[in-house]
Amino acid sequence: MVPVFVFRTYFYNQMSSTLIINIKQLVNTRDAKQPLRGKELASLPIINDAYVDIEDGIINGYGTMESFHKEKKNTTNNLVDAKGAMVLPCWCDSHSHLVYAGSREDEFVDKIRGLSYAEINARGGGILNSSKKLNEVSEDELFVQAWKRLEEVSRLGTGALEIKSGYGLSVEGELKMLRVIKKLKQKSNLPIKATFLGAHTYPQAFKENHQGYIDMIINDMLPVIAKEKLADYIDVFCEKGFFSAEEMETICKAGLSYGLKPKLHVNQLNSIGGIEAGIKLNAVSLDHLEVLNEKEIQLLSKSSTQESGWNGICTLLPTAAFFLRMHLQPARQLIDCGCAVALASDFNPGSSPSGNMNFVVALSCIQMKMLPEEAINAATINGAFAMDIANETGSISVGKKANLIFTKPVPSIAFLPYCFGTNLIDKVMIGGEFVEG
Ligand code: NIG
Ligand code: FE
Repeated sequence: MVPVFVFRTYFYNQMSSTLIINIKQLVNTRDAKQPLRGKELASLPIINDAYVDIEDGIINGYGTMESFHKEKKNTTNNLVDAKGAMVLPCWCDSHSHLVYAGSREDEFVDKIRGLSYAEINARGGGILNSSKKLNEVSEDELFVQAWKRLEEVSRLGTGALEIKSGYGLSVEGELKMLRVIKKLKQKSNLPIKATFLGAHTYPQAFKENHQGYIDMIINDMLPVIAKEKLADYIDVFCEKGFFSAEEMETICKAGLSYGLKPKLHVNQLNSIGGIEAGIKLNAVSLDHLEVLNEKEIQLLSKSSTQESGWNGICTLLPTAAFFLRMHLQPARQLIDCGCAVALASDFNPGSSPSGNMNFVVALSCIQMKMLPEEAINAATINGAFAMDIANETGSISVGKKANLIFTKPVPSIAFLPYCFGTNLIDKVMIGGEFVEG
C-alpha cells in the first residue's frame, strides 16, 4: 500500500478556497514568458507583508496585506496565517534520476579509499551496477523505492520534477523505469516530466557492438515508448567512452520523429562536440557543463542571445560536481555572457545521492558565486522552463499551481543559502494542500 502524503488542510470535500495571510515576503511574483537570461536572473520580485488567495489549488490573487479585502477572510473555508514566514514558489528540479534500485555507498567508500572511477567501472560498478540492481527488482518494488524519494524531496520543497530512465539498458528494463515514472505522475500531484535515457551507457552485452544497442534504442524501445506515451523528452549521455556527438544526433533525431525533444547530458567529463550538436538539435536544455572551454561558453551565449538562435537552458548540477570532487560549473561566466541558467539536483545513486534543492541553491551561491536571487530564479522559474511547465508553476502568478514553500523565521532571503545545511523549511504546499511530515 502506497502511503498518501498529501492531506487537505481542513474540509476534505469542500476545499475550494484557501487564504494565506501575514506573509513576511512573497518571493518571485512574476509571470515570465521566457527563461530569465543573464542580468535578468538577478532580479527577484518580492512583495513585503503579503497575502495569497488560492482557489482549487490555483493561485487566484496576491498582493500586500494593505490591499487585501478583509471580507475575503469570511468567505474562505481555509485561513492560513503564515505568521511572518517567507513564501517562495516550490523548487522546480528539472534533472533527476530519482527512479533507481538500491544504493551505491560501497563505491563511495571505495573512492574514499582511493579507487578510481575507471577501476570501479571495470569491476561492474557505476551505472552498470545500478542497472543490475534495477533489473533484479520488480516494477512494484521500484515504484515503492521511488515514491519514498519523491515524498522526501517534496518535503524539502520540490514541487515539480523531471525524472529519467537509463538504468534499465534493456527493452524491459527501460520500459519498467518509464512505467514507474508514469505511475508516479498519476499518483502524485507534483507536475512530473519523463525523459527516456536509454543511451546512458552501453550494456555489457553491447560493449563491442555499439550500433547494435543504438538500433535497439531506435527500433525496439522508442516505438513502444511512443505508443504507450511513456516519455516527454529524450536524453543521451554524450561523453568519451559513452556516446559520441554523432551517435547522440542519430538517437535524438529518432526521438524527435516521435515528438520527444532533447534534454541532454553534455560536457560533464569531456568536451567532445556535445554543445554544438545540442544547439543544432535545438535541445530544451544542455545539462551538466562542468567542462567548458571558452569557445563553448561563447557558443552557448551567442546562440542564446541571438534573436533566431537557440532558446534553450544551461542546466547546472553543482551537487554532482561536488560529490565527484570536480570543478563546479562556470555559472558566473555563463550568466555574465547572457545565458539562461537553471539549477537541478541530478538526484542519482552514483554522482548525487541527494535531491535536496536547498543544498543545490546554497552550493551555487557558496561555490559558484551565484547571487541568492539568481540561484532562486534558476531553481524555480528557469527550472520550470527547462521542463516546459512555466505556464503552470515556477513563480507566484495568477493561474499557476499553489506550490509553495513556507520558511521558518528568517531575516532575509539571503539567509537561506547562507545557513546551508540547516533545514529552514517549515512546510510545503502542493496544489493548495500541505505536504505531510
Ligand atoms: O548525471 N553521468 C551520467 N549520469 C549520472 C550518473 C549516473 C550514475 O553514476 O549512476 C549523472 O551524473
Ligand atoms: Fe544526470
